[in-house]
Amino acid sequence: MGIKIIATGRYVPERVLTNADLEKMVETSDEWIRTRTGIETRHIADASQATSDMCREAAKKALEMAGIAPSELGAIVVATITPDHSFPNTACLLQEEIGAKNAFCFDLSAACSGLIYSLVTAQALMKMTPNLKYVLVLGAEKLSGIVDWEDRNTCVLFGDGAAAVILEKTDDGNDSIKAYNLGADGACKDILFMPAGGSRMPASLESVQNRKHFINMTGKEVFKFAVNAMVSSSQQAMTDAGVAPDDIKFLVPHQANYRILKAVAQRLDIPEERVYMNLNRYGNTSAASIGLCLDEMVRNNLLQKGDKVLLTAFGGGLTWGSIVLEW
Ligand code: COA
Repeated sequence: MGIKIIATGRYVPERVLTNADLEKMVETSDEWIRTRTGIETRHIADASQATSDMCREAAKKALEMAGIAPSELGAIVVATITPDHSFPNTACLLQEEIGAKNAFCFDLSAACSGLIYSLVTAQALMKMTPNLKYVLVLGAEKLSGIVDWEDRNTCVLFGDGAAAVILEKTDDGNDSIKAYNLGADGACKDILFMPAGGSRMPASLESVQNRKHFINMTGKEVFKFAVNAMVSSSQQAMTDAGVAPDDIKFLVPHQANYRILKAVAQRLDIPEERVYMNLNRYGNTSAASIGLCLDEMVRNNLLQKGDKVLLTAFGGGLTWGSIVLEW
């Protein structure tokens, strides 16, 4: 038995928010944003668009590439921190939208590491479930709904989007995921979090007035943590897969900040031309970010059979994770 990635898809909303637009909203500059983050534009969902709507578009593209019907899906996993509702989960909403009536459905919350956590979870489920042939995994976020558009420390960083991956169980014994490493450190929960809206601080007039329903971040701490976590997790995954940095065709890191990505690549000894980046166009789309990269790479024919690809991410929790893929 082998679990293979057979298709990908992506969707980003039409509306583009540029650094020049942000200059009119908060005290910032295109120059500051470019040099400190590498971000030039990000896509922002309409007020009427929810995370499941973006999932639907990405899922349709992936299903089309896979050449399978929605009814063939045995499970749907949506990695997100911006679900349409606390419940029902976003995967259930998507299931109805696309008519995947035979799929069981759940969301997974691991912030920006969500897609990596979900791919590993999907593979494990497929290994232990005889009739689970196809699983649809998505990373999708409407971060614009939880960004404080008056906070220049955070609002320049994030964007919206959705990415889909379909896994198939095959007979040939080769898995796409050669090795993985997952980790978390709850002691660092306060450097990247949303204070209100959960059971700790339910929504109230006060919580809204005090702007507690937005991403709260200690940027410098997150930066340091991100580099260390992605480097050590990647090294562990490469060791477990029996590959060296020279064997990696592409490093696909969570698209948080160009300077973070550059530092990770340098410390892993992977030259920058083998690091896939699109954060200049999309910003940080949390759980969607690695999936948006993968789909672009697939559709631009950058990946050939046998290529080794290293995915690595970190996010709120804090969480982190890495996967060595063989394409
Ligand atoms: N425009 C202009 N100035 C800004 C600004 C903006 N959008 N945001 C912050 N500043 C200011 C700060 O107020 C600070 O001013 P001060 O020195 O007068 O206090 C100054 O720029 C430098 O801030 P600093 O925090 O030193 O910047 P930095 O080099 O650490 O970059 C981040 C800030 C947020 C870009 C960077 O820390 C980062 O990317 N961290 C990780 C964030 C991340 O990835 N989060 C998501 C995780 S999934």
